Amino acid sequence: MVCSGGATCRDKHTPSPLTKTFTMPTEGTHSPVDKFTFGLWTVGWQARDPFGDATRAAIDPVEIVTRLAELGAYGVTFHDDDLIPFGSDDTTRRRHIDRFKTALAQTGMKVPMATTNLFTHPVFKDGAFTSNDRAVRRFALRKVMRNLDLAAELGAETYVFWGGREGSEYDGAKDVRTALDRFREALNTLTTYCKDRRYAIRFALEPKPNEPRGDILLPTIGHALAFLGTLQHSEMVGLNPEVGHEQMAGLNFVHGIAQALWHGKLFHIDLNGQRGIKYDQDLVFGHGDLTSAFFLVDLLESSGYAGPRHFDYKPSRTEDLAGVWISAAANMRMYRLLRERAARFRADPEVKAAMHEARIGELSQPTLGAKESIADLLQDRSAFETFDANAVGTRGCGYVRLNQLALEHLLGAR
Ligand code: GCO
Ligand code: MN
Ligand code: MN
Repeated sequence: MVCSGGATCRDKHTPSPLTKTFTMPTEGTHSPVDKFTFGLWTVGWQARDPFGDATRAAIDPVEIVTRLAELGAYGVTFHDDDLIPFGSDDTTRRRHIDRFKTALAQTGMKVPMATTNLFTHPVFKDGAFTSNDRAVRRFALRKVMRNLDLAAELGAETYVFWGGREGSEYDGAKDVRTALDRFREALNTLTTYCKDRRYAIRFALEPKPNEPRGDILLPTIGHALAFLGTLQHSEMVGLNPEVGHEQMAGLNFVHGIAQALWHGKLFHIDLNGQRGIKYDQDLVFGHGDLTSAFFLVDLLESSGYAGPRHFDYKPSRTEDLAGVWISAAANMRMYRLLRERAARFRADPEVKAAMHEARIGELSQPTLGAKESIADLLQDRSAFETFDANAVGTRGCGYVRLNQLALEHLLGAR
């Protein structure tokens, strides 16, 4: 059943993506059950870039909430400054918040995540928590604390830390080991702040290798995982990895997410598209490396990840306002299609047979037997002395066949 797309529709319609033609924004299927969320700054991006002016008008956050609800999103996320212009007085600030809350109440939209803009104002040009200037660091902490109060008021469960300006262009400009001390100090102070106030908020660090800084601290999932283990309340801190950020560094996003899950640290995720090692493209999810997107959805859906599917993309600068909503709908459509394709892939008997051939399941068998000791392994002549390494070395793994089956499902050819 297709709802009228009205902002007040609360029904949980279950769309059947494969049997429908592409749904244009005005005929959106309302399916908040999918937990699709968007930042106010995503659809709201005016498309100003380092070379050119804005190509689109600003959109009122209230309109964003309403349009995204019509399209079937579950919620919105925001930076403090997306909602409340930097430097607003307290009365103006409250007015912006109250209008936003009214829109949320009218649409049923949630705010599962919030974050702080610690990068636009020139005061943050050398970083926020790791600025060499101590007064800037203190200002940054206060800015975050104020928005944490708002995040708690709006029921956010996750607070994201993307340190876009924490870094340098020159290795002589920043003492990185000391900067990490200050980064840790900031996060320890802020987790303590939340605990003292009994906010049920967890933090999620978002790695990025570069842009806007020449080099950003905590550049990848791996760096961030190692760092968060050193924090005072590390159980409160996980990750918010973004597809394009790992791919900008040539890294495998699916592997990164798998490791974050393995550590129990996938607290949130930023979905978008990136085509290779270049500037941060923030394309629609699946519009970059599609095969990687397929295996990512397969992983998320099978891993029990229950958090939001957050689209942190930018509607391309070439698009007008109608194109903004088309691109927003495209993110959700891509996710649903990939989820459907991944499920069919998993259910296909030929795939199951190919996986068996490829010994995919065998990896879950521990290498040593249940009660086997190291002495037992040393005694086992079949493990070494009589093991025919040459024979096993010539045996094919069958991974190309398996990958071809995956791609055929992805293409809808099976
Ligand atoms: C980027 C980042 C940002 C952050 C967001 C949260 O594309 O460089 O993803 O969009 O996620 O600003 O602070
Ligand atoms: Mn990005
Ligand atoms: Mn992001």
